[in-house]
Amino acid sequence: MKLVPFEMERWQSTWEHSVEFNLSESGVEPLPLRELLRDDASVEHFLNHPLAYSQGNGTPELRSSIAGMYRGATPEQVLVTNGSSEACLLALWHLVEPGDEVVLMLPNYMESWGLVQMFGGKVRPLWLREDLGWQFDPDELATLVGRRTKALAVCNPNNPTGAVMGEDRRRAVLDAARDSKAWLLADEVYAGAEREGARTESLWGDYERTLILNGLSKAYALPGLRIGWVVGPPDTIETLWAYHDYTSLTPTYLSDRLAQIALSAGRREEILARTRSILQRNYGMLREWIGGHGSMFTHIPPIAGAICFLRYSLRINSSDLAWRLLKEKSTLIVPGDQFGMDGYIRIGMGHAGTYLSEALGRVDETLRELAAEKGAP
Ligand SMILES: Cc1ncc(COP(=O)(O)O)c(C=O)c1O
Repeated sequence: MKLVPFEMERWQSTWEHSVEFNLSESGVEPLPLRELLRDDASVEHFLNHPLAYSQGNGTPELRSSIAGMYRGATPEQVLVTNGSSEACLLALWHLVEPGDEVVLMLPNYMESWGLVQMFGGKVRPLWLREDLGWQFDPDELATLVGRRTKALAVCNPNNPTGAVMGEDRRRAVLDAARDSKAWLLADEVYAGAEREGARTESLWGDYERTLILNGLSKAYALPGLRIGWVVGPPDTIETLWAYHDYTSLTPTYLSDRLAQIALSAGRREEILARTRSILQRNYGMLREWIGGHGSMFTHIPPIAGAICFLRYSLRINSSDLAWRLLKEKSTLIVPGDQFGMDGYIRIGMGHAGTYLSEALGRVDETLRELAAEKGAP
C-alpha cells in the first residue's frame, strides 16, 4: 500500500509543539484534568485506578452514555476508538475495496481523502461552494452518487469552513445514500461546538447503512484523552471491533473513565457551554481583526468549530504564506493548499486569554512586510 501523505497532520504534528503561536488547532482550549475531576475526593479516587488494559470496545458505561446521544442506539452499536481519526481509519479500512468509489465532501479534514486512495478507492469530490454559503450543490450530488458508489462521506459541521448542512442538504444526502444503497459516513466531531444557533442534528437514525464518527477532541475540549467512537449497525460495529484488534486494541483505561465523567449528566452540557462561550468571545475578536483589514480577507462566518476559513487577496501562495509565518514569526496556520484550495487560510480561534490577539499581531507583522515588499493588494 502506497502512503498518501496527510499533509495537514504532518504539518501540525511537526510544528505545533515548537511554535510560539499555534493557530492551526481546530478545537477549543483543552480542559485541565483538575477541572474535569473537580474535587479532592474524585482526584483521590482517580489515582487508585489500575493502569490496566481496558475493555477493548469501550466500557459498557461509556458506550451506554454515547449510545444515549443517538436516537434509538444501543451500546452494542458503539465502538470506542482512539480518537475519531481511528474511527475513520477502521470504517474506511472495512468499507473500501480497490476500485470502489467514495463520494467525499470537500474541503474536509482530508484523512478520508488520503485513506480512500490508500485502500485503492477512487475519490469523487463533492465540493462545498463559497457562493452557496459553503453548501454543496444538490444537483452535483445527484450526478456523483450512483450504483458504483460504495460510500458517501460528509463532514458536518465542516472542517475547514465551519459550515453546517442545511436541512435540505441533509435530506439530499440521506436520499442519495438510500437510493444508491451506499454507506453514509458522517464525521460529526464538531457537533456541539456551534458558536450560535441550535445543536447540529446528527445524520444518525434515518438510514440503516449509516456510520457516525465522533469524539471528545473538539466540542468537548478533551483532545488529549484520544477518545473517539463510531456508531453503526451492530454487526458492522462488531466487525470494526475486529479491525480495532489490529490497531490499538483498547481505549486507554484512564481515558475511558475520564470520558465517562465528561459525558455524565450535567457535565456534558457544562462542557459544551464552555466551548460555546470561548467561541463567541474569540470569534468576536477575530471578526474585528478581519474587518480591520478591509478587502484583504473575506469569509463566511463559521457556524461551528474553533476555525475560520479566510479567503485572502494577497499575491502569495498559501503554503508560502504559512511558511513565512512559521519561519519568521513562529506562528502556525493551515494553508488552503492543504485542502486543495490555494488563496485561503484556516485560522484556529479556540485559545484562552490574550493568545489569539497576540498571535494575530504576529500575522499582522507579516502582512505589513508583504505589503511593503509587493505593494498593496
Ligand atoms: C473533521 C475532523 N475529524 C476528525 C478529526 C480527528 O480528531 P481526533 O482523532 O482527535 O478525534 C479532526 C481533527 O482535527 C477533524 O477536524
